[in-house]
Amino acid sequence: MLEACLRHDALGRDDSGNVMPATLKLVEPALEYLAGYADALGRGWSPNNIRDVSAEQLAAIRADGPAFLTSLLGQDGTITLPDGSRIAKLPSRVRWMWDGEFCGQIGLRWQPGTDALPSHVLGHFGYAVVPWKRRRGYATQALRMMLQDARAVGLTSIEITADKGNIASCRAIEANGGGFVEEFVEPRYGEDVRLRFRIDLGAADGEGIA
Ligand SMILES: CC(C)(COP(=O)(O)OP(=O)(O)OC[C@H]1O[C@@H](n2cnc3c(N)ncnc32)[C@H](O)[C@@H]1OP(=O)(O)O)[C@@H](O)C(=O)NCCC(=O)NCCS
Repeated sequence: MLEACLRHDALGRDDSGNVMPATLKLVEPALEYLAGYADALGRGWSPNNIRDVSAEQLAAIRADGPAFLTSLLGQDGTITLPDGSRIAKLPSRVRWMWDGEFCGQIGLRWQPGTDALPSHVLGHFGYAVVPWKRRRGYATQALRMMLQDARAVGLTSIEITADKGNIASCRAIEANGGGFVEEFVEPRYGEDVRLRFRIDLGAADGEGIA
């Protein structure tokens, strides 16, 4: 019953008051969506699950929104690890979840020509849904949609990691065909135990899973 109530929150109403399911789409970050993204940052949401970047990104957007977008979508530049070290960005695709409002972010990163990742990269995908849009199936749907992108860039299987206690993330991965591989600790990210999953993209055809 509780689940049914939570799912009902995902529904909107048309002009006649009829209940309409909200439709999630993935959009390329663009100026027209930036106010929603900034609002989420302002409410304390961070697209980065390892390091809270809400304040620094908000400052960057206020300073120069178009430049922020260029940097977010850019294929050059560096990422900052928890120990402060900076490492060259891998090729990436960033998309925002949008149901008429900003819902969250999902990103794909990969090494061209191989399914392998450097050990400092915690999986091919990173995603975060804003707290007020959670439990509507958005992470599950967004991951499913982005698997097409992973195929398109030539990946044949992808790796996703989740904190051991992150039930929601694990369920979203499993609903997309993710199989458990191993527990691991990546010292660059502290002592937390993480779970590694793999999705065979041959088997994980977007339609019909979960
Ligand atoms: C993890 C996260 C992305 C899930 O987003 P979401 O849109 O709420 O996920 P979904 O609605 O697709 O739910 C996926 C599954 O988890 C379940 N779930 C969601 N939140 C849950 C919770 N708090 N406790 C238990 N189960 C939960 C859902 O019921 C669903 O299971 P089902 O398919 O069996 O019904 C979101 O909680 C989040 O942004 N967390 C912080 C960032 C993060 O952890 N990112 C992932 C890094 S690996």
